[in-house]
Amino acid sequence: MDQNTCECGKEGDCCKLTGSAEDRFALITALRRGQETHGYLPEKVLREISEELNKPLSQIYGIVTFFNEFSLEPRGRNLVYVCRGSACGVKGGKEVLNAVKSMVGVDEGETTPDYEYTLETVACFGNCAVAPAMLVNKELYGDLTPERVARILDFEPDSNEE
Ligand code: FES
Repeated sequence: MDQNTCECGKEGDCCKLTGSAEDRFALITALRRGQETHGYLPEKVLREISEELNKPLSQIYGIVTFFNEFSLEPRGRNLVYVCRGSACGVKGGKEVLNAVKSMVGVDEGETTPDYEYTLETVACFGNCAVAPAMLVNKELYGDLTPERVARILDFEPDSNEE
């Protein structure tokens, strides 16, 4: 194992930050619960988790900033993740990403001022067979075109998209 690889195989040292597997499970579960409840993880919630699990706040921040499923900032009601992986890239992923950016009016990593949308990108969903792909509110859409993106995001009035 190289020096920059964690025991779980990911780059970095995410597992070392959280101790035993039970500790990691408890912490990730608590963070997911907080994220689900508030839409993000406010400092007050992180302090509560820190006290509840007897973990240093700095360690908790380390985990929250390591995993992109967690956010320290309020997010939009609609979470849009566009794949920027190579399989999606060769099948029009860049056009799909540009279409989403232009429709919602924000760049990657940003949230619209009305908190309607947050746009993120991911390295790969593991569903390259349906490239180009995006995830909207936990639902995966594939074989995308800019026109299909407009229907999915409801930017076309007569949407027939499921
Ligand atoms: S590269 Fe996009 S789903 Fe794999």
